[in-house]
Amino acid sequence: MRKLIPALGLLALTGCDIPSEFLQRMESQSKYEYYEASEFWADGRAMRHPPEGTIAREQPVGNPGMTTGSVNGVLVTAIPVKVDRNLLQLGQKKYSIVCAQCHGVLGDGNSVVAENMGLRLPPSLLELSGKPAGHFYTAITQGYGVMPSFAGELNTQERWAVVAYVRALQAARGGAAGAQPLPQENR
Ligand code: HEC
Repeated sequence: MRKLIPALGLLALTGCDIPSEFLQRMESQSKYEYYEASEFWADGRAMRHPPEGTIAREQPVGNPGMTTGSVNGVLVTAIPVKVDRNLLQLGQKKYSIVCAQCHGVLGDGNSVVAENMGLRLPPSLLELSGKPAGHFYTAITQGYGVMPSFAGELNTQERWAVVAYVRALQAARGGAAGAQPLPQENR
């Protein structure tokens, strides 16, 4: 292989056509296509069933309120995970990394990005304290209008942690930060 790499480089430099079966070995190698027959397996099929009990990556498991933010189409009002100091600290960390650049460190929508955003401004999250917890979770998970989904950045626990932290920001509004108790649902 060591000798092959400079040789390949030369080939590329000279502009020679490299036979595609050389570069596309995975494409051209012998393999089974969907639904093709196979003599290897007793049932004569090349396609295999996933092992018993396999769960698709996208399939929500457990409590739908926790994984999707709503139950039977109704947004959950309470945060479905235990809200404690650790969760809030996780939420603060993740909020600072993922949300603050747009919604502001305090959640009030004041951020450098917001100042320079032309299309639609990130709203103040403090104004939304009347919205159910599931609204925030769903916005993070699915995106909201021009805001993209952050499901790739935050797992379920981290998303609820961010929601809990947003709730704390809302609760702290109007008083010294941290001076106000958390809303009922977060106790
Ligand atoms: C790139 C900037 C950006 C980032 C990062 C961002 N948002 Fe947003 N967010 C927006 C914009 C812009 C809107 C308004 C979208 C619209 O109305 O089309 C919005 C809307 C929302 C809404 C819905 C507001 C409403 O009116 O109900 C929520 C909730 C929200 N964001 C929460 C978050 C949270 C939590 C995070 C971090 C996980 C986050 N956003 C990260 C820009 C951002």
